[in-house]
Formats: sequence, structure tokens, C-alpha cells
Amino acid sequence: MNIEVVSNYEKMSAEAARLLVDFVKANPNANLCLPTGGSVEGTFDKMCELARAEGVSFRGISSYNMDEYATLSKTNENGYYYFLNKFVYSRVDIDVKNTYAPEADAADLQAACDAYTERVRALGGFDFILLGIGSDGHIAFNMPKLDKLCLDTHIEDLTEDTIKANARFFSHISEVPRQAVTIGVGLIMQSKKIVLVASGAGKAAAIGRFLNNRVLDPMLPASVLWLHPDVTLILDEAAAGEVKNI
Ligand code: GLP
Repeated sequence: MNIEVVSNYEKMSAEAARLLVDFVKANPNANLCLPTGGSVEGTFDKMCELARAEGVSFRGISSYNMDEYATLSKTNENGYYYFLNKFVYSRVDIDVKNTYAPEADAADLQAACDAYTERVRALGGFDFILLGIGSDGHIAFNMPKLDKLCLDTHIEDLTEDTIKANARFFSHISEVPRQAVTIGVGLIMQSKKIVLVASGAGKAAAIGRFLNNRVLDPMLPASVLWLHPDVTLILDEAAAGEVKNI
């Protein structure tokens, strides 16, 4: 695992954006899987800025949401497709026909999950996945659970902690959906390249548990990344604050 510690959010964002833009330049037909959240807003700002400044085209790129709140449509302002459209798709020359998300407003959610899994499998996995991390160590919407971590796209009951943490993006906590559709850890692990960003003291406990204990822990879903051969973590000093040895 390649671990980079930088001083602050801006540097983390610049570093992750550099990796993404260089990847797109070298792989103009790549399949990307992108997350949402405060951790990556800066990365996406910088990525779009660099792509414009350097003339890097997203025309041949396909992009996939890793998750979406259950029942929200692609046009819902609180939805994750909407987020990626706002922060990425509307600012680069990607063809929107090549932007995908689970059909989280489908009547048959399980069928929508299965269709998404099939779509990702048909690609042979993503070429590049960017991840954030929840303060409890979740990745995408794979919540900490004692009994199991699902491999494929599935419906996940969100924990109270995650609902509270994500309420800041809604006008009231009662509006936060209680369930989400998310790719599972198997599809994450099938990605050829994984980059995870984490910033701020709120992530320090999760990052500390992840890196200090070299174990697979279903209560810390990010720990599956220990098994992947190409993972880069970009942490700011606050997020790395509880790591014993880097
Ligand atoms: C949500 C998303 C994750 C994201 C996490 C952290 O739960 N499903 O993909 O990593 O939030 O978000 P933030 O970056 O806002 O802390």
C-alpha cells in the first residue's frame, strides 16, 4: 500500500486530482468509479481545472457512481448522480451517455442492483476507483457489520452515524434516506487501481484503526483494501494523526 501524507485538504485534493488527470491522459477510454462527499469536492474542482488547463479530454471516459440513496432519481438535488453531474460531468467534456449510476428509484431495487453488478462485471471491473472513507471506516455505502460484507451491488441500511454525518447535505435530517444502493466490496476490489483520500481529524480514528491493525475487520470495511495490490492512500496530517508508523 502506498501511503502519502500531505499537510492539508488542498494538497490532498491537488495530489488526487493530479493522479486522476494523469490517468485519464494515459487511458483516454478508461472506466472510472467516483464517490461523492466533502472529501472529494476539492479533488474534483482541481481535476476539472487541470483537465481544462492541460487540454485533457474526458470524451472517451465512462464514469460510474459507486452508490446512490434509495428512491432518489438522477435529477434529485440530494442525490449522488446529481452531485457528480454538478462537480464533474458538467465541467469536463465527458459524454453524459457514458455516465452511470444504480437505478435507485426503480420499483424493483434488487433487479436494479443486479443489473448494475452485471454492467460492472462486463467491464472487467473499473480501471480506477476513487474512494472517500466514512468516520466509521465505511467505503462507498458498505456499512460496518459484524456478520457480512456484500461483494456485489446491494441495498444497504444506513447506520445512524452515517445518517447523522450526511445530514449536513440535506435541509433536515428527516430527509436523509435510510437506505442506499451501493457497489459491494467485491466490485471495489475488482478495480485495477484504487485511490482513497481522507482529510481532517474526524477521519483519524478510522484511518488509525485501518493502518495500525493489519487485519480484515468487517466493522471497518476499508480494511479489505489490505488485500489489493494497487492502493494509494492520500491523507492529510489531521487524518493521519492516529497512525503509529507510516
Ligand atoms: C458517504 C459516501 C462515501 C463517502 C463518505 C464520506 O457515506 N457514500 O462514498 O466516502 O460519505 O463522506 P465525506 O467525504 O463527506 O466525509
